[in-house]
Amino acid sequence: MCGIVGAVAQRNIVPVLVEGLRRLEYRGYDSCGVAVLSNGEPRRARSVARVADLDEQVVRETQLSGMTGIAHTRWATHGAPVTHNAHPIFSRDTVALVHNGIIENYEALREMLRGKGYEFVSQTDTEVIAHLIHSMYRGDLFQTVRDAVQQLHGAYAIAVIHKDQPHTVVGARQGSPLVVGVGEGENFLASDALALAGSTDRFAFLEEGDVVEITLEGVKIADRDGLPAQREVRVVSAYGGAVELGPYRHFMQKEIFEQPRAITDTIPQSDSFDADLFGEKAAGVFSEIDSILILACGTSYYSGLTAKYWLESIAKIPTQVEIASEYRYRESVPNPKSLVVTISQSGETADTIAALKHAQSLGHKHTLAICNVATSAMVRQTELAFLTHAGTEIGVASTKAFTTQLTALFVLAVTLAKMRGFVDAKREAAYLAQLRHLPAALNSVLALEPQIIAWSEEFARKENALFLGRGLHYPIALEGALKLKEISYIHAEAYPAGELKHGPLALVTEAMPVVTVAPNDALLDKLKSNMQEVRARGGELYVFADADTRIVSEDGIQVIRMPEHYGALSPILHVVPLQMLAYHTACARGTDVDKPRNLAKSVTVE
Ligand code: M6R
Repeated sequence: MCGIVGAVAQRNIVPVLVEGLRRLEYRGYDSCGVAVLSNGEPRRARSVARVADLDEQVVRETQLSGMTGIAHTRWATHGAPVTHNAHPIFSRDTVALVHNGIIENYEALREMLRGKGYEFVSQTDTEVIAHLIHSMYRGDLFQTVRDAVQQLHGAYAIAVIHKDQPHTVVGARQGSPLVVGVGEGENFLASDALALAGSTDRFAFLEEGDVVEITLEGVKIADRDGLPAQREVRVVSAYGGAVELGPYRHFMQKEIFEQPRAITDTIPQSDSFDADLFGEKAAGVFSEIDSILILACGTSYYSGLTAKYWLESIAKIPTQVEIASEYRYRESVPNPKSLVVTISQSGETADTIAALKHAQSLGHKHTLAICNVATSAMVRQTELAFLTHAGTEIGVASTKAFTTQLTALFVLAVTLAKMRGFVDAKREAAYLAQLRHLPAALNSVLALEPQIIAWSEEFARKENALFLGRGLHYPIALEGALKLKEISYIHAEAYPAGELKHGPLALVTEAMPVVTVAPNDALLDKLKSNMQEVRARGGELYVFADADTRIVSEDGIQVIRMPEHYGALSPILHVVPLQMLAYHTACARGTDVDKPRNLAKSVTVE
């Protein structure tokens, strides 16, 4: 999604702004731009290519330089990704503005502003904000932005400069993230603290409705009621390494291989599964609840689907899993004794945050976030939180965030099971031992990469694929299919294998590869029958089989042998070869793996 950087300094900040954009590239974008006040005039450079192209323009072609500026990566919502829609957007060569989000009432505002003589040169919703601020400016940009945002409906984070205020950037946020970076005699704004790694490690996280002014001297914030506000300045470090690729070809590959470390960091240090892992109030909350409602999107939704099996089989607690963008708009029956669990890598996904707020508005008082970003809006919005320690995930395709979410959800299931008397001390110790051995088991799965590369050469020539799983591994099949379509653009669908004969079997021919997740669990014999249904129609099976399943390669069946069955935690092992298959197939097809077409990392608009 769109990324924002802003800076006020006593040095040329163009390199800082462009470096910030480079660090935000992972969010996904289709154009980018930078504007600075240069000799009292706003000047800009914009590109519909990559940030590297923008860098080339500002360094070699225009030699853009200035001490106050804003920059942007745009993920198109209103208006095609062409130069005249790229931000910064100007109003009458006086105001320059960047925006992340969607302004829902932009058409009405555009008509009103046209009536005042403003000409629109882009198809963006953003242009109305720039003209609105220009039309309302009376010498104080901070006050103008406070007044102007009162007229905006929708979600936004903005940063704006005005030619008459040479050392000022004003920002505002409502529904989209914006952080303040506090420096020495210089200050910054950004969508994500990661953008400012190397410039500062001190950050203030703005609240919904805040308007902020940064100058050389300091930071001034007004809250949604227009009252002066203080936001705690926190030191946030360890961001730098995340944007370095090291020996890997892509961030996705790096992140797949980081999973043993990420899971080790997410497994609790303590020797028991206790409620306080989820927050001070968790013991009280967990003893009150009678069910769980999980809300999430995409890959995070699939981790929720997997967790349903654990929560119902281990903790015997009824669990419902809903796609956040559906839940937020459907009429549902709230149960105040249900724990609402939101799962998110970023903690900024607009649909999941809206679903959480919707649940709260319906009377759900107990909420838990499972999230990878401690400072995110989601973590601030819930009563309880459990942080995954995946580290920054750059690749748009989620990998280590998924397996750390599964780890966290397994800890939740065992913790609830223990409180509810379904897990005794011996079983608890066994679960803990299995969790702690998981990183080593994952390393043995990662060692399968050469065999997976061989398969990927064949997959790269396909246009369709089916993924099969059963029970706890059905959501893993869904995740495998999502990974493949997301980065290789091969159409892939996943089914619970028992559903094949109810429709999708019609698709099976010699041309259809059928990826099968085959753990040695209670459903193995059923799965083997489903595999025969595929073979009988000439379908080619690609099976990830536990070593103890006795499934062997034969005509039309290729097998990659996984470690022996890993019990309840098996889904965490089985998803990894599917991630690698998607990754290497995408590489073989030559797609932009880390930034697949049309997608963004952090989906901060509806
Ligand atoms: O940050 P979140 O976990 O809330 O993001 C949810 C989805 O947008 C995300 O998982 C998406 O499906 C990934 N690109 C999948 O790889």
